[in-house]
Amino acid sequence: MRTGGVAAGRPPGPRGLPVLGMLLAIRRDPTAVFMDAARRFGDVAYLKIGPRRGYLLTNPADVRHVLQDNAANYRKSPLYDTLRQSLGNGLLTSEGAFWLRQRRIAQPAFHRQRIAALAGVMAEAVREIGVDWEAIASTKQPVDIGDEMMRLTRTVVLRALLGANLGPFTSRIDGAWKVMNEHIGDSFWSLGLTNGWPTPRNRRFQAARAVLRGAVEYAIRQRREQGAEGDDLLSMLMHARDEDTGESMTDEQLRVEVTTFLLAGQETTSLALTWTFYLLSQHAAVRERLEGEVDAVLGGRPAAYDDLPNLPLTRRVIDESMRLYPPAWGFSRQALGDDELGGYRLPCGWLAFLMPYVLHRLPTHWPDPDRFDPDRFLPERSADRPKFAYLPFGAGPRQCIGNQFALLEAHLTVATLAQGFRLTLVPGHPVEAWPLITLRPRFGMPMTIERRRARH
Ligand code: HEM
Repeated sequence: MRTGGVAAGRPPGPRGLPVLGMLLAIRRDPTAVFMDAARRFGDVAYLKIGPRRGYLLTNPADVRHVLQDNAANYRKSPLYDTLRQSLGNGLLTSEGAFWLRQRRIAQPAFHRQRIAALAGVMAEAVREIGVDWEAIASTKQPVDIGDEMMRLTRTVVLRALLGANLGPFTSRIDGAWKVMNEHIGDSFWSLGLTNGWPTPRNRRFQAARAVLRGAVEYAIRQRREQGAEGDDLLSMLMHARDEDTGESMTDEQLRVEVTTFLLAGQETTSLALTWTFYLLSQHAAVRERLEGEVDAVLGGRPAAYDDLPNLPLTRRVIDESMRLYPPAWGFSRQALGDDELGGYRLPCGWLAFLMPYVLHRLPTHWPDPDRFDPDRFLPERSADRPKFAYLPFGAGPRQCIGNQFALLEAHLTVATLAQGFRLTLVPGHPVEAWPLITLRPRFGMPMTIERRRARH
């Protein structure tokens, strides 16, 4: 309810248990708890999660207020602490002047023109996957499309941004990240009482961290040995000098940033692609329209940068896939001072929950929200929708630095692979969204790959 002044008391919300509040329910099924709170309590819902208190915000005006207009009053929430401990204090997890400095160093690598120039590297990596898929198609054996997309996006980040490879760590990195994602996703909603105990789970996590560290150190060392003076992100990070002190980044800081880019750049984009291929496999009519578009525009050759404006349905399919399955499904902020949201006071120290998964399924902005309908992104059907109702990349100063990079990569990939192949989910395989830090398919995504001939 919106009123002129600040309402006394706190907004309504689910009752939860004494002391623990909604902690156990959230540990069991986080998206269900947030969806249910939004449905029952409207724009602002009060949530107590163990020792933490905060509001789930689902009015785009309030989301905009926290992420953009009053962003200076917020920091990333303490729920990110385990992520910070795992990745280190880098672009994704740091705050204030330090964050701003790191963002300024990295930003030029993501300018539109520079991203456009990377399209060739991306297209080549997609072409290589296509060659592998021809062989896989002939075996008629299913493969996990999540693993395939992870392999693709890792290759692209390594070649396009870091100019490096992971040598002996290549085959171990995806498994290591899966362990870390599960551990961090789980610890988001735990009281952290067993952190640091030598449980098998914690030991697996430490081993995964060591693999990641080894991989990143290998990539940096290799690049140093080559003495390569590239103009990619890694060179920018290596050669950056502090404006005041003239000092370059320490080795440790460089390692943190490379880790951040390796993971942030690979994991989310691969999930966006995996969910897209899943949705296409379930919606034959959309898939056929998409195949019609790519066949007509590409005429049998792989997609290139200049083709993309002529492939608008392909782009809408990706947008709609990230609506239903936003890879970064939820994030949160902590108030540095009191604020007012939807007519309620948010006290200093409390949290604001911004949940793309929930925002993207609000019937107010998305009629028939569970339906896969890429045409809802047609300009004429989007005109009345508030910008902050769709947030796959976040918003405001902390918006994803890699959003153009990811969209370019996804667009090229879906167009090229949909022209050459048709993917079918293994019949009867259960598919369930698993909200860790990112939104993964809980039971994997085994699909068979079939070669298709483009219709010209
Ligand atoms: C579909 C793919 C992607 C999705 C859905 C995604 C999503 C997001 C979101 C939601 C945030 C903001 C989190 C918050 O506000 O708390 C973020 C931040 C970030 N993303 Fe992405 N991302 C994607 C791809 C990428 C790529 C390709 C890169 C790098 C190559 C990247 C690097 C980063 C970094 C470094 C940040 C932190 C930016 C900052 O705080 O200044 N992301 N991403």
